[in-house]
Amino acid sequence: MIFLGDNLINKQVKKSSIMETLFNPIKINNLDVPNRFAMAPMTRNKSPDGIPGQNVADYYERRAKGGVGLIITEGVEVSHPSSSGYPDVPGLKPQAHQGWKNVISQVHKYDSKIFCQLWHVGAIRKPGLPPEPKVPGFTPSGLVRKDKKVAYEMTADDIENMIEIYVRDIEIIKNLGFDGVELHGAHGYLIDQFFWEDTNQRIDGFGGNIQLRSSFASEIIKRARAKVGKDFCLAIRFSQWKQQDYEAKLAKNQDDLETLLKPLVDAGVDVIHASNRRFWEPEFEGSSLNLAGWTKKITGLPTITVGSVGLESDFIGFYQGEDEVKSAPIDDLVKRMDDKEFDMVAVGRALLSDPEWVNKVREGRYDEVIPFSKKHAENYY
Ligand SMILES: Cc1cc2nc3c(=O)[nH]c(=O)nc-3n(C[C@H](O)[C@H](O)[C@H](O)COP(=O)(O)O)c2cc1C
Repeated sequence: MIFLGDNLINKQVKKSSIMETLFNPIKINNLDVPNRFAMAPMTRNKSPDGIPGQNVADYYERRAKGGVGLIITEGVEVSHPSSSGYPDVPGLKPQAHQGWKNVISQVHKYDSKIFCQLWHVGAIRKPGLPPEPKVPGFTPSGLVRKDKKVAYEMTADDIENMIEIYVRDIEIIKNLGFDGVELHGAHGYLIDQFFWEDTNQRIDGFGGNIQLRSSFASEIIKRARAKVGKDFCLAIRFSQWKQQDYEAKLAKNQDDLETLLKPLVDAGVDVIHASNRRFWEPEFEGSSLNLAGWTKKITGLPTITVGSVGLESDFIGFYQGEDEVKSAPIDDLVKRMDDKEFDMVAVGRALLSDPEWVNKVREGRYDEVIPFSKKHAENYY
């Protein structure tokens, strides 16, 4: 067993297998990513006025230097006053551009690639928040969960306008020099509120059945693709679980999943990031494939898995006062990568406490891994 943080391993044997599977380069669209590790997007609330400063650039540089092949930034606000739900989240206004250019050039120094995660919180926005306290949460049906109306139901014009804002932001992201964009379509935020039947009760082209609930996301991707050209990487993250309901299922079986994802593939998405809390959990009965595994099988696209890699418990504990998490084996991950179940793996908390985590795995320095603790995470090292 490869226990990270434990030196009782057969380093020789395991190292060669790890090198072949996890440290093989991969091409996504036209982009060469040097290995299979992505940094999972993680909100850090360190960008006052939406502007990423030198501390943000240095934080991402440490992970690039630490060997991460692809950095996915923390969620970055869509340029609409309703997209904000939390303090000090970065945005894309002109004053933020130099900060992002610094982030990108510091990451590129190490040959790592970087995607910008574009995020609108939808119904999670609470009234009274900046930047415009009177602006409510914008949502497909006003719902934050089934039967719980808390926010504003977008009109057809609002939806059209929001899609165009997303597309303009994606053009900005490309012009800043990012290698790609990841639409945050997971965890119960705006795009996911369109995907999820509990929060989307529209009867127009943006709701009604699972295929139509995919239209908001696919329309953004289709129009963005037309603007940014065929070579710019477009990714989307989605999840079955929601912060509103950990047991939620967008897709109850593989047919549902195919119906949900096909419009995104047809629209021109390059890579799909399937967010799990625990990557080893099978998604549907009768197969050990996880959500990223099914997504790859159904779409034929490269996929990214995520969820408790190198750690014993999942990230919800982070929000429930769990101060420390023990390191855990990655054998199962290596095996699934060997089996080509998915193409990349995103690592979240393990990289918060240890920016060198990827290099330590590559070099077999497992006993030097710094286990995850809230203290390390909050230090913003
Ligand atoms: C502090 C923190 C902030 C997060 N912020 C985001 C975010 O901005 N966007 C997102 O898609 N997921 C976010 N997540 C979820 C992570 O991307 C990831 O899916 C989750 O932590 C599971 O990976 P892990 O078990 O390796 O930590 C966040 C997680 C943490 C711990």
